[in-house]
Amino acid sequence: MTYRYITTPIYYVNDRPHMGHAYASVHADVMARYLRAAGHEVMLLTGADEHGEKIARAAQQANETPQASAERHARSFEEAWRALAVEPDRFVRTSAPDHARVVSQCLTRLFDAGEIYLADYEGLYSVGQERFVTEKELVDGKLPEDKEPPVVRREPNYFFRMEAHREWMRQLLLDTPELIQPAQYRNEVLRLLEEPIGDLSISRPVERLAWGIPIPWDTRHVTYVWFDALLSYVSPLGYPDRPEFARFWPSVRHVIGKDILRTHTLFWLSMTHALGIAPYRRLHVSGHLLGADGRKMSKSLGNGVDPLAAAGTYGVDALRYTLIREVSFGFDGIISEAVIEQRLNRDLADDLGNLASRTLSMVVKYRGGLVPAPKTYEAAEHALMARARELPAAVLALVDEMKPGRAVEQVMEFVKQLNVYVANSAPWTLARDARAAGRLDTVLYTLLEALYGVSNLLYPVMPGKMKELQTWLGVPNVSDVASGASWDRPWGEGVKPGTVVSEGILFPKLAN
Ligand code: MSP
Repeated sequence: MTYRYITTPIYYVNDRPHMGHAYASVHADVMARYLRAAGHEVMLLTGADEHGEKIARAAQQANETPQASAERHARSFEEAWRALAVEPDRFVRTSAPDHARVVSQCLTRLFDAGEIYLADYEGLYSVGQERFVTEKELVDGKLPEDKEPPVVRREPNYFFRMEAHREWMRQLLLDTPELIQPAQYRNEVLRLLEEPIGDLSISRPVERLAWGIPIPWDTRHVTYVWFDALLSYVSPLGYPDRPEFARFWPSVRHVIGKDILRTHTLFWLSMTHALGIAPYRRLHVSGHLLGADGRKMSKSLGNGVDPLAAAGTYGVDALRYTLIREVSFGFDGIISEAVIEQRLNRDLADDLGNLASRTLSMVVKYRGGLVPAPKTYEAAEHALMARARELPAAVLALVDEMKPGRAVEQVMEFVKQLNVYVANSAPWTLARDARAAGRLDTVLYTLLEALYGVSNLLYPVMPGKMKELQTWLGVPNVSDVASGASWDRPWGEGVKPGTVVSEGILFPKLAN
């Protein structure tokens, strides 16, 4: 058995999930589903980052306790993932006792090892990002991602000796070019590591912030939210001694947005190194989603599209498809209602939906709805079969590099190729000539078998619609392992001659 562990960011739960959250979670879910289809034992983790000032403030504004507010929002995240067909195996909550225990153990170990010390600290603090910032990071007096300028703070803090791990991290990045993807983010971190990074403040005085995990040996302080949150990648696996940790951790891939690159490199790599945890295997870094106006989607600009509303209007599968196909992972890109509608109408309705409905309706019309047996394959069929055979490995290779958009593009190219094949072989003409009956059987069978392959290849992106298509094709659903359905069944072992198929419209076109 091969194990694969994939994580989404552990989201702050001070509001409902937005499209940026959906982008990260759908990518992680799609990767999890592809790896599962390829036969790996997969663990997908998401969760709620419930401590820290941001959450405490949101709770205060809503006149709730932080625990009650986090509870309510965590639940709305869980529901949102269900609605978006994101199916995590674990949902970690940083306020859970099991997690707090792991954080306390780690703190104690690091303190005992001399990796943590107490000192006075004065500096500029960004409340938006929940961290101290340096002058160098500021543009016009504030962090570009913040609305408010940072505030000056002086207080006793516990510090983690992050600087002591800098050279080791630099070497790790140099020795493992594939660690952080795409490469531009690795280069960015390498540049940061060329100069001192300082030590990391990892506690807050309790009188300023009570909502957190107490520092085990000094309860006048609580643990800094990032130190706590990053450990939520290991606590759900029963770190340090449960077998799940040993099984899954070596394969871990974190999916994050570029806004949290620094914390996932400087903080997390040094923390794991100090704790003796192997560094993650991959860090997959996304760009930002932009609104129709080309600016970063944000609540204050009001340029975002609500993911649940979009799933309601366009369907969850069309939304997932658009997120994967439209904005290449690692780059910034626009997601607007117009973009989703265009993907739905063109790629899904015109190309894929049309291929499915014309194929199925011809089988119903010309063959009484029964899958025909193929007769003699000609050059056109051999070309399609060859492509169908290559695609699963090509798709998996791209997914492995977190390029699911490119993978899906290849499958959709194949769909286009199949539409051209329909036009060239003109089944409607063959149907008028009794001597061409064998040829018509071969063409219809080829289309059905190729569609079955497409339904498997796109299942991780559009589980709902592809399951529907597989039902119409009369084949067991690929997610139903007990049925013996398999993802890359060889050509000729998918649809079965004699099986009944049914017609349907997969993606009704949305009129504008
Ligand atoms: N709680 C931390 C993460 C801790 S991980 C141990 C946090 N949470 S967050 O709720 O702010 O979510 C951050 C993630 O949401 C980003 O890294 C990114 O993946 C996603 N996005 C938030 N806004 C985004 C866009 N506009 N575009 C794309 N993704 C963005 O940070």
